[in-house]
Amino acid sequence: MTDLETLQRDALAAVERAGDLDALDEARVRFTGKKSDLVTIQKGMRELSPDERKERGKQLNAFRDTFQRAFDARRDELASVALRERLEAERLDLSLPPRRLTPGRPHLLTQVEQEIVDVFVGLGYRVAEGPEVESGAYNFDLLNIEPDHPARQEMDTIYVSFAADVVLRTHTSPVQARTMTAQAPPVAVVCPGRVYRADSVDATHSPVFTQVEGLLVAQDVSMADLRGTLLAFSRALFGAERQIRLRPSFFPFTEPSAEVDVSCGFCGAADGRAGDPDCRVCSGTGWIEILGAGMVDPNVLSACGYDPGEVSGFAFGIGVERVAMLRHGVRDIRDFYDADARFLSRF
Ligand code: DAH
Repeated sequence: MTDLETLQRDALAAVERAGDLDALDEARVRFTGKKSDLVTIQKGMRELSPDERKERGKQLNAFRDTFQRAFDARRDELASVALRERLEAERLDLSLPPRRLTPGRPHLLTQVEQEIVDVFVGLGYRVAEGPEVESGAYNFDLLNIEPDHPARQEMDTIYVSFAADVVLRTHTSPVQARTMTAQAPPVAVVCPGRVYRADSVDATHSPVFTQVEGLLVAQDVSMADLRGTLLAFSRALFGAERQIRLRPSFFPFTEPSAEVDVSCGFCGAADGRAGDPDCRVCSGTGWIEILGAGMVDPNVLSACGYDPGEVSGFAFGIGVERVAMLRHGVRDIRDFYDADARFLSRF
């Protein structure tokens, strides 16, 4: 009897003392395993009388129960200590500053092109595109540009094949002709894209640049419609107080033609009054040129299969680099193409 009591006391003390799950398991093996005193006591039961054996059996079962409960309780305790320690060790410091992500973004020219296109899409225009490698027919002939027109000379035009009359388009106007030859009026399209000229590079010239062409042809379209449209465009892009003015000009594909200025908002001359003589945008004139436009020449309409007696229209060509320079105070066109992330990331 005493031996079992001692055993139980020692066993429970060992369980209590176990400092981790391994030590606890060792205690289990030592006090209840095959080579334990418990097993020796069990084996000794054979020599007992049936009554004694019954009594001893109860005691042994009670010992096992007690041991098992103590064992389970200690195991749960140790497991939760271990878990707490692990959580503590793996704690995340949520106050650490995150690593900075620098996501890409559309190039400034793409942004401005998109803004321009969005204004016209808002007015009901559709976006049309054409190839950058273009035939002389679309780039020149259908647009009323005569064979001896200076723009056709090799110094301006980059020829892919002089013999086959294939060029890198010098403007986005050929997309007008492509639109009209493909579809009956009415049409309202804007045509963004790259254009090419054999220009040498300086602060305001690049052999590759970007234009957005616009074309609207329907019944009874007038110069007043053109003016209203360009005023809405200028205000959407440059600000609600801006004014525009149309100066007489010449383009082979429009008659009459105009160069369009927007009032300079940079030196406070947003209403077209004379500006600050030192203004680096308008040099004091109060106006800045933003695009060319006009009423589509009847020759162009009929060359493209439209009847100039039935429909009329207007067209305009916007230089995206120029608009981007004016809007964002960029002084050198080369900044757009240098791919210097310090510059580009400002926009
Ligand atoms: N195609 C002209 C250029 O590249 C720009 C232009 C002027 C387009 C007047 C037009 C327009 O549609 O009506 O210089």
